[in-house]
Amino acid sequence: MSLSGKKIGIAFTGSFCTFHKIFTQLEQLVNEGAEVNTIFSDSSQKIDSRFGKAEEFIKKAEEITGNPAILKIETAEPIGPRKLFDILAIIPCTGNTLAKLATGITDTPVLMAAKAHLRNERPLLIALSTNDALGMNMKNIGYLMNAKNIYFVPFGQDNPQAKPNSMIAHTEKLVPSIAGALEGKQLQPIISSPFEDQKPK
Ligand SMILES: Cc1cc2nc3c(=O)[nH]c(=O)nc-3n(C[C@H](O)[C@H](O)[C@H](O)COP(=O)(O)O)c2cc1C
Repeated sequence: MSLSGKKIGIAFTGSFCTFHKIFTQLEQLVNEGAEVNTIFSDSSQKIDSRFGKAEEFIKKAEEITGNPAILKIETAEPIGPRKLFDILAIIPCTGNTLAKLATGITDTPVLMAAKAHLRNERPLLIALSTNDALGMNMKNIGYLMNAKNIYFVPFGQDNPQAKPNSMIAHTEKLVPSIAGALEGKQLQPIISSPFEDQKPK
């Protein structure tokens, strides 16, 4: 499926180590002719870390998409009534946002965007990135995987020895995951471990 002309929301949450890979995907979506708008959670728009400054991430997203980022709950709310997106992807999705989504909490611009978008019965795609995927958050992953209109970017263990509960999405599979979800299909296989660089040599 061509993504040309598709209205795509890309929501960032505070898994800062993944941001650089996501900008490559943002560029790809724009190059394919999609109309892309970004949304930032409160943490992702305020925390400066060793991975970069929040303000610079927002600026870069705005430069790539040509659209102002959505940074407040009140500017995310119209996504519902105005049916702004064909699909919304939370990429990266922290354990925090995942757990709140599974329990119906709506206290950040990203969670507001998800709630508003789901009201229109349109696909929501999750690209998780969390150290507790196989721990405290596993029940939430299972719950969301079984929920209507929710899809996952395929994911796997990124460092089973050092971080046995950690799982992250294969960010490079964003475009086919979006294309599948727009047709009501989950890209398979959902679990694809180990990552190439984790295979025994
Ligand atoms: C440098 C740094 C890296 C982080 N990386 C992750 C991560 O990869 N996954 C995760 O679930 N949380 C991570 N966190 C914690 C989240 O940023 C924190 O739980 C925050 O409350 C998430 O809020 P949000 O989900 O609204 O963006 C990280 C925090 C910092 C400071």
